[in-house]
Amino acid sequence: TGLFTFDPGFKSTASCESGLTYIDGGEGILLHRGYSIEELSERSSFMETSYLLLNGELPTKEELDNFTYTITRHTMVNEQLNQLYKGFRRDAHPMAIMCGVVGALSAFYHDSTDIADPDQRKIASHRLIAKMPTIAAMAYKYSIGQPFVYPDNSLSYTGNFLRMTFGVPAEEYVVDPVVEQALDRIFILHADHEQNASTSTVRLAGSSGANPFACIAAGIACLWGPAHGGANEAALNMLHEIGRPERIPEYIERAKDKNDPFRLMGFGHRVYKNYDPRATVMRKTVREVLSALNVQDPVFDVALQLEEMALSDDYFVEKKLFPNVDFYSGIILSAIGFPTTMFTALFALARTVGWVSQWNEMISDPAQTIGRPRQLYTGPAARPFVEIGDR
Ligand code: CMC
Repeated sequence: TGLFTFDPGFKSTASCESGLTYIDGGEGILLHRGYSIEELSERSSFMETSYLLLNGELPTKEELDNFTYTITRHTMVNEQLNQLYKGFRRDAHPMAIMCGVVGALSAFYHDSTDIADPDQRKIASHRLIAKMPTIAAMAYKYSIGQPFVYPDNSLSYTGNFLRMTFGVPAEEYVVDPVVEQALDRIFILHADHEQNASTSTVRLAGSSGANPFACIAAGIACLWGPAHGGANEAALNMLHEIGRPERIPEYIERAKDKNDPFRLMGFGHRVYKNYDPRATVMRKTVREVLSALNVQDPVFDVALQLEEMALSDDYFVEKKLFPNVDFYSGIILSAIGFPTTMFTALFALARTVGWVSQWNEMISDPAQTIGRPRQLYTGPAARPFVEIGDR
């Protein structure tokens, strides 16, 4: 009964009010709390941008130091969680492990699941931001059969993650500042992106009053899909499959063919009908990282030429399909040494700050109510039950 607006995929429905992130898809503009992504990625740090997203303003030096200290104090996970990892197959996808482990945090932190209490919400948010690098690095270590590396709180957020991922107990791990800065920038570029599918999932899960750990686990599950965060893994796999510039036209033709489900991964966006500003920063960072690490990756040439050919093709021009954040990120991540299966886990790590900020904003809103979409029913009309022998 009743009339509803029918909007599959929510293409024209605003689900909430939010003061966090502004996107102008036509102009290719992305702002967090009013600050442009270009400036933040160039001049800020992931910790500072996280503070900004959570609190609404850039921190003073003292506020940033306090925030960083607080996050640092929460980097360890309960030792009991090690057992949970050991229950997974060694070849488990890191995102499969992340869904399970992050959801399981709600069983460990009963003192931060009362969502009506702003202090508990704050602690839960800090815990999630602080523990994601540890949890992601442990997923990687488990997959390659190396011992878990405990956090070293004398390092930066990103440096600590690098050490937990690539360090081994037998040797001292020295964080490469170029790699640290590039990865920190990648985290900033992924920190938030208004009401994308995973953030909407976190909000919808949270609207029922579910605890924050469960809500973020829901976000991770949604992010995994190849149309969303899974695209960074799929994009690099695609570039490897293309392999040589001569093969690009074949893939462009496939992407244009309506009878072929293939899409150019890392291309197109629901909101951007112009260049994704994050992709511009990412492309520049690829150049810097490859040259600083003295890596020559033929896949970067394939990516550059693929972009050039696609952007001069009528199909992509008319449909306004441009490279998105996922197109170039994989090239940097693989130059740093991450396997493709870790890419989406890194996206989840960075997006956690956006998820918890959006979740906090929603819970603090006095008008907050359970998210409960309606439907247009297309099934049969009421009919009598038929006994099994009479069907
Ligand atoms: N390659 C070829 N054709 C495409 C592509 C692509 N990557 N993306 C969209 N199109 C076509 C699509 O076939 C459709 O054509 P038509 O109008 O003739 O049916 C038209 O462009 C519009 O596409 P849509 O699927 O209706 O648009 P959407 O807003 O529902 O989907 C998208 C957006 C990002 C899911 C889509 O562009 C896509 O699948 N891209 C590849 C996956 C990807 O890179 N995802 C990462 C998104 S950015 C980061 C993130 O969110 O995690």
